[in-house]
Amino acid sequence: MATEKKPEYSPGLAGVIAGETAICWVDPNAGLMYRGYDIHEMGDKATFEEVAYLLLNGELPNGKQLKDFKQQIAAQRDLPKEVVEMLRLLPKSTHPMDMLRTGVSMLSAFDKDLSDNSHDANIRKSIRLIARVSTLITDGWRILHGEKPLPEKPELSQAANFFYKLNGKAPEAWQTRMLDTIFNLYADHEFNASTFAARVTSSTLAGIYAAVTSACGTLKGPLHGGANEESMKMLEDIKTPDRAEAWLKKQLAAKAKIMGFGHRVYKKGDSRVPIMRKIARDLGKRTGKENWVLICEKLEEVMDREKGLCANVDLYAAPVFWMLGFAPALNTPLFAASRVAGWCAHVVEQHDNNRLIRPRSLYTGPQLRKYPGPADRS
Ligand code: ACO
Repeated sequence: MATEKKPEYSPGLAGVIAGETAICWVDPNAGLMYRGYDIHEMGDKATFEEVAYLLLNGELPNGKQLKDFKQQIAAQRDLPKEVVEMLRLLPKSTHPMDMLRTGVSMLSAFDKDLSDNSHDANIRKSIRLIARVSTLITDGWRILHGEKPLPEKPELSQAANFFYKLNGKAPEAWQTRMLDTIFNLYADHEFNASTFAARVTSSTLAGIYAAVTSACGTLKGPLHGGANEESMKMLEDIKTPDRAEAWLKKQLAAKAKIMGFGHRVYKKGDSRVPIMRKIARDLGKRTGKENWVLICEKLEEVMDREKGLCANVDLYAAPVFWMLGFAPALNTPLFAASRVAGWCAHVVEQHDNNRLIRPRSLYTGPQLRKYPGPADRS
């Protein structure tokens, strides 16, 4: 017999407030704030290190704090040799996101602060994770392609090191600036699926490595972070702007989900799109590959007309990463290299004021019935 009334239910937890945060605010009418700072103002000016510091500590760093923070990250970039060995053992067909998730999980065993969930220990572990998530991606990629990992260059920033450790060439200043801006756009987005997974995991008082491992697994899915890899496949399939409208109409008629469109919170446009679109246009001119942006713009126009749906950040991130020289399989890992700052900030916040996250479900199975003995079962 049911003992409680049918509760309110929102499929997919749409619109449900699942917790409080002082880290980030997503305004459905296309605003995004980190700790009170508008991403439109800060995105293409701040370095990723400044934004990561802000997310973790609540305030922007002064000159000395920023210098120390950069040095702390640089000092943590190298992976334990056992973790590098593990990366070598993985099949060459492993997706870089699976490599990353496995690497984060293994790193936990090498952290002396593993079982300390205090604020200070969590900040120390966050710095290690921000440094090493990036290295797991770059070293992992080189190993997958039969190349040796490269030592980091401590004088390079986090964004510049990503380029350098991946292909052995220090980037131009404009490339570093672009990657900083992209990392800033991806760094946090309140209770998105991967961050929520991190918060649920950490709410059991499991540590930050367990939480970031959960987050990496969650980010990979194509309805979330995996969309930026899928968007590139879509653009490659469309090939030229003149094919975009017919391609899209055919997909919509088949009720397909179009990657890089739609968002759970934004209904009037994703606040990150204008900055990412601007970078895509700039890169299109620099590389002579303006076709990608023209396809995206055509898709935006037709999607708005046909379904009233707006692009999300992953639509333009796909050609941006491609034109910056990254293979599509690195798109979601690049997202993770930035979002790890947000994940860590959320775990710190969760542990600082923890309550177990444990919602209820709405039971839809059979009503109470009598247990039949084996002879009575047809
Ligand atoms: N393509 C086609 N139709 C879509 C799309 C899409 N990309 N997004 C939403 N719709 C449709 C839904 O099917 C639904 O149609 P219906 O009313 O006929 O059933 C309608 O639009 C409304 O959908 P929502 O309730 O707004 O979608 P929801 O909030 O459940 O899903 C999501 C959001 C998962 C992002 C969805 O838009 C989607 O699958 N997009 C494609 C994947 C993607 O780009 N993900 C990246 C998200 S951003 C990020 O993670 C950084």
